[in-house]
Amino acid sequence: MKETILVLDFGGQYKELIARTVRALSVYSEIKPGDTSSEEIRRLAPIGIILTGGPDSVYLPDSPKCAPELFSLGIPVLGICYGMQLMCHVLGGKVQTHTKGEYGCVPVYSCKGGEAFLALMSHRDCVTEPPDGFEVTMRTKTAIAAFEKVQSKLYGVQFHPESAHTERGSEIIRRFLYGVCNAQGGYKMDNYIDEQVRLIRRKVGGGRVLLGLSGGVDSSVCAALLSKAVPGRLVCIFVDHGFMRAGEGDEIERVFKRQKLRLIRVNAAERFLEKLKGVTEPEAKRKLIGEEFIRVFEEESAKLGKVDFLAQGTIYPDIVESGNGNCAVIKSHHNVGGLPESLGFKGIVEPLSGLFKDEVRVIGRKLGLPLKLVNRQPFPGPGLAVRVMGEVTADKLRVLRQADAIMRAELDKLRPDRRPAQYFAVLTDTRTVGVKGDDRTYEPVIALRAVNTGDFMTCEYSALPHKVLARISYRITSEISTVSRVVYDVTSKPPGTVEWE
Ligand code: XMP
Repeated sequence: MKETILVLDFGGQYKELIARTVRALSVYSEIKPGDTSSEEIRRLAPIGIILTGGPDSVYLPDSPKCAPELFSLGIPVLGICYGMQLMCHVLGGKVQTHTKGEYGCVPVYSCKGGEAFLALMSHRDCVTEPPDGFEVTMRTKTAIAAFEKVQSKLYGVQFHPESAHTERGSEIIRRFLYGVCNAQGGYKMDNYIDEQVRLIRRKVGGGRVLLGLSGGVDSSVCAALLSKAVPGRLVCIFVDHGFMRAGEGDEIERVFKRQKLRLIRVNAAERFLEKLKGVTEPEAKRKLIGEEFIRVFEEESAKLGKVDFLAQGTIYPDIVESGNGNCAVIKSHHNVGGLPESLGFKGIVEPLSGLFKDEVRVIGRKLGLPLKLVNRQPFPGPGLAVRVMGEVTADKLRVLRQADAIMRAELDKLRPDRRPAQYFAVLTDTRTVGVKGDDRTYEPVIALRAVNTGDFMTCEYSALPHKVLARISYRITSEISTVSRVVYDVTSKPPGTVEWE
């Protein structure tokens, strides 16, 4: 039987991060609801259990509870934040509201000596009296930060060891896995692939699956995984809206035809351009593109006849970002929000929904997708339409494609570790006066954008060498007759966003 760490979820934001940290430490993990019964836990036979954080207070009647026998099953338990407080509360200790709460990176001191380290805290309640037999092992200046009852293999930490902001966080989880739960390790992404293949087969049965393929990393890896699981029963639709970069539509088609996938490419450039005629407002553009995408998708799937499942390359950060109903809409992502129910699918298949981008890339490599595709930079669903400011026209797209290809070609010459995380050109709707030969010009400005970021949620502009910028500018202004000025965007996010629209 494979060794499993069970992550019991009490509503914390970081449950997938815990599961991911455990996976990165070569142990399989599975997330289940916090109140999973002890019978079910025994059936799953985990080697250890991790309790997540959560927004509630354990002493309130409606707060999420765990199975009452959880701490006497003889299975090691690590409680994180709310999980620690729950362990304390259930076993007779005291949890109270902290005077101010602790938020952000806070120094944590070991009670047994040793150097302090910074740990990410995000809590209002805290353990004030550990249950009988528990020893306090770490403290902050104002609160208990960790406790343990070694003989019962019960451990609690008030901070978040799963966060990259906690120094030694991964080490703490490693010690729990290998020192307390006696894990053997050996779990690899290959296992994830096998597991998903099995689950997809079980769910899909003999049915047919339809996948919207954009050529981005996520949908491409999803396609490769599905074609491994249900070969011959997967149909991919690639809606080419005409806003792809130079040569990209053909490249996507070539790659996937080679993967022996059934790929339907719909060349819909004209109808998308027609829809965008006269439209200049960024959100209006995004919405129209999103709607048109769905129309094309509907038409194509109707032509296919009965399809049972819709597959999507959703990854975990997509779910977190769209799950927060209180957030302002900064940009409507055209693939979030789902497809209309009228399509009549039996269900949705999202085999990557528990993974992060870098894990998806690992899976893509393992499934043999070309590195160029697996390492692709993010590209917005609405494509170049949101990199052409103002109304989108075929002429403007032509100019932008050329400028973008030059910028990419020049930056691709840099050593991979010196390349920014994302780089592209934007066609602005400002025209400026210039001089070419002996003639006056009055042409649009191209802006160059290059950013450094890990998560693409925030970014810094990349301090590209002046020589590189000068070379790009020279090439754009000399190779594209209708551009006589190039500027470089030096804005970080926030306050800017990565894309201009
Ligand atoms: P922003 O412009 O919001 O972009 O700072 C953050 C990252 O997301 C990409 N992006 C999109 N990706 N659909 C996508 O799949 C979209 O509509 C979309 N808009 C922006 C952007 O390129 C950057 O990497």
